[in-house]
Amino acid sequence: MRKIKKVLAIVLSLSLVLGLFTGCQSKKQSDLKLTIYAGLMEDHMIKAVQEFEKETGIKVEAVRMSSGEILGRVKAEKENPKASVWFGGPADGFIAAKEEGLLEKYVSPNAKDIPDKFKDKDGYWTGIYIGYLGFSSNEKLLKEKGIEAPKSWEDLLKPELKGQVSMANPGSSGTAYTVLATIVQLMGEEKGLEYMKKLHGQIKTYQKSGTAPARMAGQGEAIVGITFMHDAIKYREEGMKDLVITAPSEGTGYEIGAVGIIKGGPDQEAAKKFVDWCLTKKAQELGQTVGSYQFLTNPNAQPPKQAESIKDTKLIDYNLEWAGKNRSTLVEKWNNAIK
Ligand code: G6P
Repeated sequence: MRKIKKVLAIVLSLSLVLGLFTGCQSKKQSDLKLTIYAGLMEDHMIKAVQEFEKETGIKVEAVRMSSGEILGRVKAEKENPKASVWFGGPADGFIAAKEEGLLEKYVSPNAKDIPDKFKDKDGYWTGIYIGYLGFSSNEKLLKEKGIEAPKSWEDLLKPELKGQVSMANPGSSGTAYTVLATIVQLMGEEKGLEYMKKLHGQIKTYQKSGTAPARMAGQGEAIVGITFMHDAIKYREEGMKDLVITAPSEGTGYEIGAVGIIKGGPDQEAAKKFVDWCLTKKAQELGQTVGSYQFLTNPNAQPPKQAESIKDTKLIDYNLEWAGKNRSTLVEKWNNAIK
C-alpha cells in the first residue's frame, strides 16, 4: 500500500512539473508573433497563416507581394527590417537577396527531408514547391482567329497574336523574370533579348503580378498569357472554362518556390519555427486545398492530382543560380531592349 502511494506521488508530481513546463512553453509560444512577406497566391498565404497560427499559437501578419516587390522592400528596409520571413515566389529572388546580404542563414532540421537540388547549399533558402512555365490561352478567341494554341516560343510571334499576348513585368514579377531568364538560357543573351524585343511587339500589357496574364486570358482580355501552368489550372477550375494550357516544344523554364529568413528581422525564433513548419508534409499539402497546384519538394508530400496532366512537360536545364545572380542586370538589359 505504501509502495503504491509512493508511486502515485511520483506520478502526480511528474505530471505537475510536465504540466507547468508545457504550460510555460505554450504561453511563451503564444507570446511570439511574426511578420511575413508572401510571394505565393493570396489564398494560399491565408490558409498557411491560419494553420500555422492554429498549430503553434504564434500570431502572424502577412502581406502578399510579387517577387521583385518583396526584394525591393527587403532591400529598402535593410537597416530596419520589418518582416522576418520571405514565404514563396521563385528562388532566383532569394539568390539575389542572398548575394546582397539580405537573408539569414538557417538550416532547418526538417531540411534533411528536402532533396539537395531544391535547397541552397549554404542554407539561406529552402525550396517548398516547383512550378513550370507555359501558355494559358482562351480557346474561344483562338477559334475566332482561326489559330491553334501556341506550342512553341516562336508561335507567340504569329501576326494573329499581335497585341494579344499578356505577361507580367520581369522587374516586379518572379514569374515574368523566370520567362526572361528561360529565353536567355535557351537562345543565348543576344538572340534572347532580340526575341524579347519581338515579343514586346505582341504584348497587350505588362502586368505587375505573374498570375494576372492567366486571368486575363481566362476572361477573354487577351488571347494568350505567359504564366506558370498551375495558375491556369486553378483559374480553369474556378470557372474560366475557355482556358487551354500548352507548353513550348523547345522546352520551358521552372521555378523552385522558396522560403527564407530575412536578416536582422524581428521574431527570429518564430521565423525559424515557420520555416520548419513549411517543410513538413502537412504544410506542403495545404496549397492544393485552396487551388495552388505546384509540385512539392518534400518527397513524402502528395503532389496535387490536378497537376498530373503537366508533369511530363519538357523542361530546360534551368540554371537557377545564374538567374538569381544576374537578376538586376538582366532586367535592366530587357528594359533597354524594349525601349
Ligand atoms: C503565383 C504562383 C507561384 C509563384 C508566384 C510568383 O502565386 O502560384 O507559384 O511563385 O505566382 O508571383 P509573381 O507575382 O512574383 O510572379
